[in-house]
Amino acid sequence: MRKYTLQVCPDAEHASRAAAEVVVAVAREAIADRDRFTLVLSGGSTPRRLYQILAEPPLRDQVNWSKVEFFWGDERPVPPTSPDSNFRMAREALLGPLGIADAQIHRLPAERANLDAAAQEYQMEIARVLDTSFLSEPPQFDLVLLGVGPDGHTVSLFPATPALKETHQWVVRNPVLKLRSDRLTMTPMLLNRAACIVFLVTGYEKADILTEILEGPIDTQRLPAQIVRPPKGRVQWFLDEAAASKLRRK
Ligand code: 6PG
Repeated sequence: MRKYTLQVCPDAEHASRAAAEVVVAVAREAIADRDRFTLVLSGGSTPRRLYQILAEPPLRDQVNWSKVEFFWGDERPVPPTSPDSNFRMAREALLGPLGIADAQIHRLPAERANLDAAAQEYQMEIARVLDTSFLSEPPQFDLVLLGVGPDGHTVSLFPATPALKETHQWVVRNPVLKLRSDRLTMTPMLLNRAACIVFLVTGYEKADILTEILEGPIDTQRLPAQIVRPPKGRVQWFLDEAAASKLRRK
C-alpha cells in the first residue's frame, strides 16, 4: 500500500488553493519550530497559480516570508530571463510580488556552459544553506513542490534517463534525448529525504498518466514520478477532477 493522501478538487483553482494552504501550514510549523522554512519550487506551468495565491492576501499575510529559503527542483538550460525559465516564472508569480531578498533565493544556474560544474555548485549551496556537508546524508527540505509531465516525469527526471539511477549526487546534469537537451535536476535521493512532498497535477491531459502512476504497477524507469517515495516524509497529491477523471480510487 503506497503512503500518500490525495485530494480531488473541482478545478485547477481549487486544487492550487488547497496546495497553497498546505504550503502555508507547513511553513508556519517549520518557522515556529526552527525559525526557517526550506521550500523547493517546481517548474512548468501548473504551479504559477499556486504561487500567485501564496503571494496575495490572505495567504501572503500568514507566513513570515523573511524566514523562507527558496530552491528549485529543476531548471531548463536557459537564462533566468527566458520565458522557459522555471526561475523566471517563480520570480514573476511569487518572489517579486512578495519582495523576497536575493539572499533567500537559491537559483539553479542551468544557463552555464558546464552543467556538471553548475550541479556541483548547487549541491554546495544546498549544503551551505541547510547547514550540512556533502559528505553526510542529503539534507531534508521541509517541503518539495512537484508536478508531473504527460510522460510521467517529475522535476527533470524523465523516463529512462541516467538521473533516475543516481545514488550519490543530490543534483545532476540529466541528458534528456527526446528534448535534445540537458537539464539540471534534483535526484531521487535528495527528493526522498523531504519531510513533505506536494504534487499539484491538473488537466485532462494528465488523467491517463496519473492513473498509471497512482494505480498501476511500480515502474520507475517508465514512470519517474513513482520514484518519489520519501521513507520518512509524507506525500500529498492535489488534483482537479479532470486530472483525476480516470482514477478508480479517489
Ligand atoms: C519542468 C518541471 C516539470 C513539470 C512538469 C509538468 O521543468 O518542466 O519541473 O517537471 O513539473 O513538466 O509541467 P506543467 O505543469 O507545465 O504541465
